[in-house]
Amino acid sequence: MSKYTVVSMPGDGIGKVVLPEAIRVLDAVGFDAEYVHADIGWDFWIDEGNALPQRTIDALAEHKLGLFGAITSKPKGEAAAELKLELRDQGFVYYSPIVAMRQHFDLDVCIRPCRSFPGNPLNFIRRGRDGGVDEPLVNAVIFRQNTEGLYGGVEWTDPPENVRAALNSHPKFKLFSEVPGPDLAVSTRIFSREKCRRITRAAFEYAQKHGYKSVTVCEKPNVIRETSGMMEAEAALVQKEFRDIQLWSTNIDAQMMWLTKNPETYGVIVAGNMFGDIVSDGFAGLVGGLGFACSANIGKDVAVFEPTHGSAPKYEKLDPPIVNPIAMILSGCMLLDHVGETEKSTRIWGAISRVIEKAEVQTYDLKRFTGGASAIEKGAATSVQLTDAILAELK
Ligand code: NAI
Ligand code: MG
Repeated sequence: MSKYTVVSMPGDGIGKVVLPEAIRVLDAVGFDAEYVHADIGWDFWIDEGNALPQRTIDALAEHKLGLFGAITSKPKGEAAAELKLELRDQGFVYYSPIVAMRQHFDLDVCIRPCRSFPGNPLNFIRRGRDGGVDEPLVNAVIFRQNTEGLYGGVEWTDPPENVRAALNSHPKFKLFSEVPGPDLAVSTRIFSREKCRRITRAAFEYAQKHGYKSVTVCEKPNVIRETSGMMEAEAALVQKEFRDIQLWSTNIDAQMMWLTKNPETYGVIVAGNMFGDIVSDGFAGLVGGLGFACSANIGKDVAVFEPTHGSAPKYEKLDPPIVNPIAMILSGCMLLDHVGETEKSTRIWGAISRVIEKAEVQTYDLKRFTGGASAIEKGAATSVQLTDAILAELK
């Protein structure tokens, strides 16, 4: 019997490419796990009207650890049109299975490390004082509240009468009170104190454990006073337990500007769901983009690890596959850290660092080629070759 059982959910498109590569690397460092496959994604929406089948939820409930590739998601109408004929017009509504998974298991703490690998040709650079080039190393870790806010799914076009009545009770709604129902869409941004506290505490604990000197709350409390205000208030309370770590506060818009100027200033960042998604993509762009962006979704009971990229349908059919597997492999490292196998995760980070530094084996993104079959002819490595290079460094 293996020590761990991990639910493997490759999903759609390039999820199917990168997940097996991550497992090869986890095997190579001797991670004592067996993997059970679980279905998720577009095919199951079309055939079953459910992109996250109950059997997958059961497997996660049983084994507690998941590795997830990526899924394809489409707007409601488009999704409905692709359902198989027998299921059409029967009330099936498409929901993103990853959002559903986060909510079902209350995976409320999302961690997205954005660290530059020295020598990565995709690293952020800026003009230095002397006219030369500065390449500050980015070492930011974004804590994103993963289940609430604008992703909570409480929204309407043509809100029902009682919702409209409630909205009308707010003085600021006067501006919209004459808008006809079908022309009015409302999405709610709901924060709860418990979740604000959990995400900010997770951020401070991480900062303490990893020696960061600051935690930055990145919201917009001057305008979105209630929800952003609650996040800030909870962060201030939690900070009292971590006196050595400074609490900084930035507005999301200003933060997006600052990270293009001095990204090295920031350490741990904490934000609500939407702003966390935005700021983490921003930082990911400074450390190599989607091929490097890994994440963890952590609840009290279940944890799921995934690259932040999607299914990249443009590339899903390419044989050999060209996409960068590093984001998925680093997500595997986050799984290792989560279960306390940090030495194995450090070995993998080291091996990836050496592969990047040597610059001999590079997927199309690292070569700055346009994606497509021709990338390989021009000298880009395949997904498998890049993993092989990492495995060679692990020997
Ligand atoms: P995407 O992340 O799938 O791809 C955007 C572009 O980024 C690709 O065309 C490619 O140029 C590049 N890219 C992505 N992953 C890469 C990798 N590992 N190596 C090298 N280059 C990479 O985002 P897009 O095109 O907006 O969405 C495609 C589908 O994925 C949609 O259906 C979307 O809803 C879904 N999606 C799913 C996510 C998830 O499963 N968590 C997250 C984001 C999008
Ligand atoms: Mg995103």
